[in-house]
Amino acid sequence: MKKILIISLLALSACDDGDIIEDLKVENTGRTVTVVTSVSGIENWSSGYNVVVAGFGDNKYADISKNISVGADTIVLRGIGSSVKTIEICVINRLRERVATFYKSDISADNSDEIVLEAGAIRADMFNAIQNAIFTPTCAACHGGGKSAAAGLYLTEGNSYDALVNVASSKATDGSVRVVPGDAANSFMYKVVTGTDGTLSFDHSNMILDYKNLQLIEDWINKGIE
Ligand code: HEC
Repeated sequence: MKKILIISLLALSACDDGDIIEDLKVENTGRTVTVVTSVSGIENWSSGYNVVVAGFGDNKYADISKNISVGADTIVLRGIGSSVKTIEICVINRLRERVATFYKSDISADNSDEIVLEAGAIRADMFNAIQNAIFTPTCAACHGGGKSAAAGLYLTEGNSYDALVNVASSKATDGSVRVVPGDAANSFMYKVVTGTDGTLSFDHSNMILDYKNLQLIEDWINKGIE
């Protein structure tokens, strides 16, 4: 029992600390990228997520990453190997999998050893991640992006938060609220996208296929919303 506990603690600390992982990945010949930015919303995330500057190759797991601390305006990523094609300001989970991207630059055609990227001001809060990763690409076409908003629900950028949080559903017959802060299980939107509510004429249960996106919505609601 004792042994198991120690092993899992070690695993956790290794995942949570971007610096340790970065040190392991350092290569002598790697390139250096300096990202100049001003990132807000870092402290808004629940545990298990890290707002980072990261390098990605061909898959969704970061090859290299560095946590962005609150107030930092210059992040230097060293030892970037040749497999890295894009540098991103993004959120990764414990598996180092990309959850949402706020800024992205393709460096694959740049051969210099020192690259400087000006990323400007970035809103990296949890809700903006949901907007970027889920609402805008998957929902907005029917919910406000075209001529009308299905069910009177706007999920377009700048409108979605006010349309969801503490707002009564226009479709549920039991007085359900679209998003109840702190209570995903009783939030109508969460029931709709997880397929646990059968009252809608339009089936949403296959809309969000990626499990980490459902997890992101659940974590945002259960954290109490900001
Ligand atoms: C292809 C069009 C389409 C897409 C894409 C779509 N929806 Fe819908 N949505 C609808 C329709 C139509 C309704 C109303 C169904 C009804 O009248 O029974 C609805 C209703 C809803 C409702 C109920 C609103 C209320 O007030 O009761 C929620 C919540 C919702 N959608 C969330 C989402 C989310 C989140 C996404 C993206 C993951 C999404 N929808 C993507 C068409 C769509």
